[in-house]
Amino acid sequence: MIDIKWDSKFEIGHPRIDAEHRAFVDLIRAVSLEAERDCPKEKAMRLLLEVRKYAEFHFVSEENIMLDIGYPDYAEHREEHAWLLRRLEDEAHSYYTDSAPLEELAHFMFNWFALHTTTVDKKLVASIAAHEAAAKT
Ligand SMILES: [Fe+2]
Repeated sequence: MIDIKWDSKFEIGHPRIDAEHRAFVDLIRAVSLEAERDCPKEKAMRLLLEVRKYAEFHFVSEENIMLDIGYPDYAEHREEHAWLLRRLEDEAHSYYTDSAPLEELAHFMFNWFALHTTTVDKKLVASIAAHEAAAKT
């Protein structure tokens, strides 16, 4: 079983994005803890809804930053976000109707988060820093 918690390797140096990422990891951890406790399905579904809504809010806020700086990889990055939101909806449905394991869903979300944050989001933050540096000159 993997330990779902914040790690300094997820820190990408943008205070607001890092703060939102921390909250997202906390929610994924909460799903994992509910899975361990074998909580009622209705409760887990509410939590999965919270994860999805939080992810959607966070993605829109990242995408708005991208638009502000004229980020060249906007469409590609946005598609990664949209893919995850579609997948979360499908996975929540599978959990509810076919009893797909909740713990596996938590692992899937955490693995996606770890990869996305340390690659795609890191690239975005480098671009934000370059944009800010250029604005100062
Ligand atoms: Fe992102």
